[in-house]
Amino acid sequence: MKEILVLYYSRYGAVAQMARHVARGIEQVAGAAARIRTVPPVSAVCEAAGKAVPDTGAPYAEIADLAECCGLALGSPTRFGNMAAPLKHFLDSTSALWLKGALAGKPAAVLTSTSSMHGGQETTLLSMMLPLLHHGMLLVGLPYTEAELTTTASGGTPYGASHVAGAASDRALTEDERKLCTALGRRLAEICLRLAPK
Ligand SMILES: Cc1cc2nc3c(=O)[nH]c(=O)nc-3n(C[C@H](O)[C@H](O)[C@H](O)COP(=O)(O)O)c2cc1C
Repeated sequence: MKEILVLYYSRYGAVAQMARHVARGIEQVAGAAARIRTVPPVSAVCEAAGKAVPDTGAPYAEIADLAECCGLALGSPTRFGNMAAPLKHFLDSTSALWLKGALAGKPAAVLTSTSSMHGGQETTLLSMMLPLLHHGMLLVGLPYTEAELTTTASGGTPYGASHVAGAASDRALTEDERKLCTALGRRLAEICLRLAPK
């Protein structure tokens, strides 16, 4: 069984929901399993360490999760057109993997959620790719052979899955957004299985 890491940060739940659909897509591929992990919030006051285990939801990611999995789906809410600090903070702790080239050649995909339609989905997705490219990861997007990319009236981009959560962050995923999350997970898993050493 090949494991694919679904690593995300979510403050209000939208990206967490997307991540579950990506995981569902991964698990539709025979021989692939999703390992879902999150990261703790960060604070400007750093004297106190947070709890080692979250109260609810996915466990916190460890560096070993990245090393052990054959691919990565990375999810973040958009924060001023960019990824959220807790996820960036975690990625900034991956130098040891980078030095060894541990992620080089592994496939990766990205997903995000915004409150507004034109609030920076593409900029967030593209900027999330930058550290992954530094690690030598192979980026997997969504091709237009996925019909929902053309029909969607909200989220869904060729750069990765996305969702428009609304000003109150309470809008459910549309059918198109949900299908594109699943398609991204499925595509990532298929490519992981093709590339992973036998
Ligand atoms: C500090 C901060 C910055 C944000 N910046 C943006 C933004 O640039 N564009 C946007 O559309 N939404 C922005 N949002 C809204 C979130 O991206 C949106 O609510 C997202 O769906 C939250 O995902 P989550 O439910 O997984 O936490 C921002 C939210 C916060 C707290």
